[in-house]
Amino acid sequence: MTLNLIKLFVVLCLFFARIATSNIDFSEFRNTDPEIIEDATLDTFTLIRKYGYPCEIHRVYTEDKYVLEMHRVPYGKENSVRENRPVVFLQHGLLSSSAEFVLMRPDKGLAYLLAEAGYDVWMGNARGNTYSRKHASLQTTSSAFWKFSWHEIGYYDLPAMIDYVIKETGVQKMQYVAFSQGTTAFWVMTSTRPEYNDKFTAMHAMAPIAYVGNIRSPVIRALAPFTNSLERILKLIGANEILPNGNLNKLAGEKLCVEEAITQSLCTNLLFLFCGFDAEQLNKTMLPVVMGHTPAGASARQFVHFGQLYKSNRFARFDHGWWSNRRNYGSFRPPSYNLSAIRVPIFLHYADNDWLSSPKDVDKLFKEVKSVVGKYRVPLDKFNHLDFVFANDAKTLIYDRIIRIMSQFL
Ligand SMILES: *[C@@H]1O[C@H](CO)[C@@H](O)[C@H](O)[C@H]1NC(C)=O
Ligand SMILES: *[C@@H]1O[C@H](CO)[C@@H](O)[C@H](O)[C@H]1NC(C)=O
Repeated sequence: MTLNLIKLFVVLCLFFARIATSNIDFSEFRNTDPEIIEDATLDTFTLIRKYGYPCEIHRVYTEDKYVLEMHRVPYGKENSVRENRPVVFLQHGLLSSSAEFVLMRPDKGLAYLLAEAGYDVWMGNARGNTYSRKHASLQTTSSAFWKFSWHEIGYYDLPAMIDYVIKETGVQKMQYVAFSQGTTAFWVMTSTRPEYNDKFTAMHAMAPIAYVGNIRSPVIRALAPFTNSLERILKLIGANEILPNGNLNKLAGEKLCVEEAITQSLCTNLLFLFCGFDAEQLNKTMLPVVMGHTPAGASARQFVHFGQLYKSNRFARFDHGWWSNRRNYGSFRPPSYNLSAIRVPIFLHYADNDWLSSPKDVDKLFKEVKSVVGKYRVPLDKFNHLDFVFANDAKTLIYDRIIRIMSQFL
């Protein structure tokens, strides 16, 4: 049943994508390099090793017994000093994984750039994604496994991973860099467990997400009113998980997205339909690699919870319905996250054409979090949501600046 739903979803996406792809330029296509196909199918660890960087796998148990896999690049290739490296923790976005920070190869991937800049780089993986699908007693086939949203990622996963990194490296504090939902989870952690504010010297948010009332993605705006029924429907047919990484991605990576394939234009839009489109910043040669690693799985509740935020225009806990809210939170309405409890120095990086993290919503967050130090607009009009991780010029437009700011917090 789950598979059928995924198929239906993909077909719908392809259908929408078709509408949006009349202006694709086929003249750019070249033959696909086998290296590209290989990058599309290797896991994060093997991919990092392939490019000559050290990588370690670490596993950590959360308080509620999920097993998460972290990936560490302890030092660089050029800069291979191993002692006294400051620690940076990277957290990926929705439907993604640690692969997000290394897909674009050593000259563009943020994890590599940070390792060369002198950092000990740790990358988290949220429960439910490709690398974090184990639990002490629950199977991924049981709906109990999938009963979480990004609230649990912020409340359980991040603290477990951060505590582990501190224990393993012996540092007192680290810096935190995140994209999209990785920032949402950070607001959850630091507002619900204020003691974690003391474990970071600075936080760098790329495409920050807390308020989402001004989302511009037409598909999401169209689907949002149905979020609560979406959960009911999914439950009814037994689907708890959305877009896991599996055969579908293999197909997308190997067949659908290679450059000479006629379906390539669809491939582009499948992803970008939801997030905004920026043809100039997207390297089409690398598409199979992106599609081989994303989507990496998420629970239906993660979407439902974001849908609730869109409808209520608040940044609040999961809405279980009146009576369950009363039981869970002591109030009929889910309580808002207390953003004024956040004390870590924060830098917000946003873009004008970001369909998900819109400038208006970022501004609202900026006004409510007292410890925001800087708010930076990416100096390119067309820069969109996914460009923060995949753009050709992400390094010069944004990573270089983040690394420069980070050097002030050592
Ligand atoms: C696109 O990616 C390919 C393969 O990594 C690379 O050779 C090429 O230089 C990239 N193009 C741009 C514009 O960055
Ligand atoms: C929110 O956090 C601030 C700072 O810790 C605290 O003073 C305030 O009482 C909190 N508000 C609520 C509603 O818990």
